Amino acid sequence: MSEKRKRILTGDRPTGKMHLGHYVGSLENRLRLQDTYECFFIVADLHTLTTRPEREQITEVGQFVHQLVLDYLSVGIDPEKCTIFLQSGVPETYELNLIFEMLITVPRLERLPSLKDMAKAENLDAMPFGLLGYPVLQTADILLPRANLVPVGKDNEAHVEISREIARRFNRQYGEVFPIPEVLLGEVPTLVGTDGQAKMSKSLDNAIFLADDPKTVEQKVMKMYTDPKRVSADVPGTVEGNPVFIYHDAFNANTAEVEDLKDRYRKGKVGDVEVKQKLINALNDFLAPLRKRRASYEQRPEQVDEILAEGTRRAQEVAKETMERVREAMGMFRLKL
Ligand code: TRP
Repeated sequence: MSEKRKRILTGDRPTGKMHLGHYVGSLENRLRLQDTYECFFIVADLHTLTTRPEREQITEVGQFVHQLVLDYLSVGIDPEKCTIFLQSGVPETYELNLIFEMLITVPRLERLPSLKDMAKAENLDAMPFGLLGYPVLQTADILLPRANLVPVGKDNEAHVEISREIARRFNRQYGEVFPIPEVLLGEVPTLVGTDGQAKMSKSLDNAIFLADDPKTVEQKVMKMYTDPKRVSADVPGTVEGNPVFIYHDAFNANTAEVEDLKDRYRKGKVGDVEVKQKLINALNDFLAPLRKRRASYEQRPEQVDEILAEGTRRAQEVAKETMERVREAMGMFRLKL
């Protein structure tokens, strides 16, 4: 691993299975860039505490951690090339988080709609201090490995902006320690749900998961929302903004087939069932290699654990080095013990 390669840091909270929206929003970019960048993929278990602090919720996290690593491996993230690690296994995260808390204001964080939305989704009537600090903790994740690039979905864009501000502020105040991280949005920064709602999401129950089997994919696509004007196959339909065609564009490798379907749809010369059947085939073709890799790792759960342990050791090394530079730059008092 050459030191000159630029770094990526991104990741996810372990709260459940990843879906097609995650794929086009961020996973695709991670895969594409894993050879050119030195990649760090964080399983952000500490972030789940911001909205799920009950003991029963916390004890669930372990199984979600394992699932998330399986999702990463199933899409083809190569553990030989990338560092997959557990956030809570790198205690420097807490340390850098505290330092960064001094470099951003409360009103700046209060302006972020994403945090208010998260509080609302969890029925919290007041904003917890820790949830307000969510993007600051995320900044500690990004800057511990001194990452240059952060591939994320649209919903995380404003958080990376906070990270840029904190990095600039630190560098100005104490000297150049951090790169200013850049956000990288996916091909489809926000994928619509199967029900036509703006966003695919587990909690909205409108997601197709990377781990879904062929039958489940078929059932979900058959129920998908399409153009409501089309009461029969001979009514000309609208392709733009139609979830079925958005998915065709994103996942059907056969572009000639997609163009033909669009053309006939606009003219009222194809039924929804055919369009959906072809989408089912395309999605299952897309998911087939993922299912194969997942099945092979599922047979070796200890290997999955070891990948995460090995990655966490590597992330610890990098984090220690960064913290040395941080304390040095800040002129912090060092106690000899
Ligand atoms: N906030 C991300 C999410 O929505 C998870 C995350 C935590 C993250 N730390 C990060 C993403 C650092 C990118 C970089 O689940």
